Amino acid sequence: MRIFLIIYVFVIVATVSILGFRGSLTTKPPIEIFPDMDHQAKYKPQAESDFFRDRRTDRPIPAGTVARGNYLNQQAVFSPDFKDKRLGDTAFHQGKDGQGEFIAQLPIEVTYELIEQGRERYEIFCTACHGAAGDGNGVTRPYGVLAASFHDDRLRSETDGYIYDVIMNGKGLMLPMRDRISPEESWAIVLYVRALQLSQNAEADALTAAQRTELGF
Ligand code: HEC
Repeated sequence: MRIFLIIYVFVIVATVSILGFRGSLTTKPPIEIFPDMDHQAKYKPQAESDFFRDRRTDRPIPAGTVARGNYLNQQAVFSPDFKDKRLGDTAFHQGKDGQGEFIAQLPIEVTYELIEQGRERYEIFCTACHGAAGDGNGVTRPYGVLAASFHDDRLRSETDGYIYDVIMNGKGLMLPMRDRISPEESWAIVLYVRALQLSQNAEADALTAAQRTELGF
């Protein structure tokens, strides 16, 4: 009986102390058993500061600051004669000329290294859906991803700027990839897609005699 009473009192005290004060307000600071990094010296946005003369914690942007990044309106920021492929060039960043038309050809120099870089990136980002040969037979096909084949006449005659735009911004069911592929890598992939297209659709006359013999034509 005594044990029962003790347990009974204990349960009542526990219930009241855990649940009984829910919702009641107090002005005392909360009990912190592990304060960790709860309290740090810092300025909160738009708060007042004793340190700066204008007493604002938000600091104004220093004069002459240039915005960085790919997708700001380059023409609004840079003068038309400014040429730097990393900053002011809409063709390089968007695949479009000043009038918003897709550019016909790569805006950067074509080198063998660029094709190699394109092949490497293509194998990472595209093969799963479009297949190693670009015919749309990737490993995802049995699961219902009907990725386009690059070997049809429409895609052969699309501009380089258009292919670049598909990679960066996606198209239909294809995902956009500008969050993981830089403009330079994307142009390299465009170049490799062109190489794939050529691999399935080239005139024998375009080859040298030695190359034709090697291929048995
Ligand atoms: C997750 C699967 C997937 C991946 C990865 C993928 N694609 Fe696609 N892609 C598609 C699908 C699906 C379509 C068809 C889109 C549609 O018409 O709805 C397509 C269409 C295209 C088209 C044709 C657009 C048109 O005008 O019809 C191009 C070009 C293309 N992809 C290029 C690429 C390149 C280059 C890569 C790699 C950087 C890539 N894709 C990665 C699924 C993918």
